[in-house]
Amino acid sequence: ATEPDARPAQRWDPERYARNARFVADLALPLLDMLAPAADERILDLGCGDGALALRIAETGACVVAVDSSPRQVEAARARGLDARVMDGHALAFDAAFDGILTNAALHWMTRPDAVIDGMWRALRPGGRLIGEMGGEGNVARITAALLRTLAARGIDGESLFPWYFPMPEEYAGRLEARGFRVEAIERIERPTPLPGPLSDWLETFAESFLLAVPAGLRPGFVAEVVEELAPELRSESGEWVADYVRLRFAARRPAA
Ligand code: BEZ
Repeated sequence: ATEPDARPAQRWDPERYARNARFVADLALPLLDMLAPAADERILDLGCGDGALALRIAETGACVVAVDSSPRQVEAARARGLDARVMDGHALAFDAAFDGILTNAALHWMTRPDAVIDGMWRALRPGGRLIGEMGGEGNVARITAALLRTLAARGIDGESLFPWYFPMPEEYAGRLEARGFRVEAIERIERPTPLPGPLSDWLETFAESFLLAVPAGLRPGFVAEVVEELAPELRSESGEWVADYVRLRFAARRPAA
């Protein structure tokens, strides 16, 4: 059953995403190498966003199905000519349909991991592989701390607004193994990530859950304060912003029998 969720939903605007988040698919190319899809293999891209990575997979000759819970992102993915479908990652509706699953920067938005893992297991044929990357423990910790402090200064408790799931490798491997996956590799990687624009763009694209707690008229001031607090830590001398990303990257397999 879906638990009630008091957090305001993150909204996905494909144009804003294309402007501020192209780097997400660009940085996923090592995952495509790990997946190494053969022509005609059936591959699921779970949490496809606007389809930029799914398109790269399709260009290898694989047959790609791309799913995302955001109808607007799915529309953008379809506009690239992809077979893209609106589907909640907690309720994947596939049965032994894929040779491989690729998932990038999506699983941390899904806060009931066992339901997702169960759906990925069912979606793979026996022997199928899962290649994934998501935020790991400590991901965007400095950004989150500044958001929480700045909300607290306005009398708002932001802890309950935290929209992400950033596990340690041991925890996530344990969940995968509990469902029957064989974990072939899993690692936590600190990867400070240069942003294509100002931190305010990142906050507006990815941290809406916190921003929406502030009345609309006061939001620009709130964002400016978060940015000012983080500048000494996350802005380089040349003015480039670098987000404190930590990845959890893994490869797992549904055993053949
Ligand atoms: C990430 O890819 O790690 C991420 C993106 C947006 C918000 C939080 C984390």
